[in-house]
Amino acid sequence: MKVGIEAIAFHSPEHYVELTDLAEARGIDPDKFTKGLGQLKMAVATPMEDTVTLAVNAARKALENFDIDYDDIGTLVVGTESGVDHSKPVAVYVHEALGLRPNCHTYETKHACFGAMAAVFSANDWIACGRADGSKALIVAADIARYPIGDPGEPTQGAGAVAMVISDTPNLLQFDSEISGYYTKQVMDFWRPLYSTKAFVDGHYSIECYLNALEGALADALHKATIPELYRMNQLQACIYHVPFAKMAAKAHHRHFEVDAGEKIDKESQRFADVRTSFAEKTGPWLSLNAIVGNIYTGSLFLSLIDLLRRSPSAALRQISMFSYGSGCAASMNVAYLTPGCDRFRQQIDPEPELNARRKLSIDQYENIMRISDSLGRGDTQEFLASEWDLTSEFLYLGNKNHIRRYSGLECGPPAAREYGPLSASTHH
Ligand code: CAA
Repeated sequence: MKVGIEAIAFHSPEHYVELTDLAEARGIDPDKFTKGLGQLKMAVATPMEDTVTLAVNAARKALENFDIDYDDIGTLVVGTESGVDHSKPVAVYVHEALGLRPNCHTYETKHACFGAMAAVFSANDWIACGRADGSKALIVAADIARYPIGDPGEPTQGAGAVAMVISDTPNLLQFDSEISGYYTKQVMDFWRPLYSTKAFVDGHYSIECYLNALEGALADALHKATIPELYRMNQLQACIYHVPFAKMAAKAHHRHFEVDAGEKIDKESQRFADVRTSFAEKTGPWLSLNAIVGNIYTGSLFLSLIDLLRRSPSAALRQISMFSYGSGCAASMNVAYLTPGCDRFRQQIDPEPELNARRKLSIDQYENIMRISDSLGRGDTQEFLASEWDLTSEFLYLGNKNHIRRYSGLECGPPAAREYGPLSASTHH
């Protein structure tokens, strides 16, 4: 059975910061951010845009743009590391906002940036083993990446959500059923304690952990393949990676190339020219959206995939590798194939018009948003107004009342006002 991605969509917050402005404010050479990290802009979520609103907006786009019946969704998973509650999953708000059927299997997954990829593997297995019974899975990768103001991680911040429909009608991309390599190791490279709104990170060590995990997952994938030669780099027309910042994908491709070549290739050596050429062909072209959005944690790999899918892939571009990394850490390497004719969906997929319509923030405005966001999460709030935050989206977070999160159009009232199950008429009235 063929299983893969039938629909995909991205939703970004409506504002951004120019990284040259951030560099100037921090007294840093802008080239460090734009060339050294490869980042140009970072998406900034206002207090009315949280993981739930990003996820709902992305999911609606995926279902509407690809004309998918909401009743066909039998599994809904939100992968996130910036959830809004220690107990209640983001997914259940998304379920209500979309009006999905009550017997939809709904939950949240967490493993740093690997959370959504883990859900994609589960959805793939659910369909491939025949339990989906014709239903489709909606997987949403939604996150807001936050580091302290002035932290080395600050220029890699971002926010956004990618929603994907996984089904047995993979009009965009089909997963290879034979290989997927995994790697797990307990490391303290990046973490966010329950009491903190921002991540703690050992930046340079996290890069090392990422690259070690890539080696481990790739070795496992090749070990599992009956004919490993089919998955060698010369068979791959594109290699996409988890993208915490664009330059990390270049480091990842360098390591992937070295493992494939079976030798270490120093940047100073002549052979490094081959690494550069390979990167320019197979990875570099699909990093332009990540560079203007920033790190979106669980969704970063899939944003790079959107970049690839929106660029009218030719028939020659077919077999791709996908590397997912979640700090802490877990990783996977798998192979997928672009579906012939997927270029007819280019327009539905392309988020660039919406990204171009974002409004630029000054550094003062951005810092004010960070301060207000930090003060949230400690109890009830005032009711937020879209006009005060210059927002056009219809689905927004309105603030907390009686410790309950309120969203536009969602009825998050007390139990007495709601109906529960077939016996509700006799038990609640
Ligand atoms: N012009 C051009 N390039 C410059 C420059 C200049 N003026 N100044 C510095 N550079 C280059 C440096 O040479 C370096 O490039 P290389 O890595 O190729 O050598 C690059 O810019 C970054 O410079 P530094 O290493 O000095 O930067 P830093 O120490 O201030 O911070 C960072 C970099 C550690 C990545 C930091 O941004 C960070 O902590 N980020 C968050 C953690 C992260 O993203 N880790 C990635 C792996 S973990 C993961 O993937 C999970 C996840 O999503 C978080």
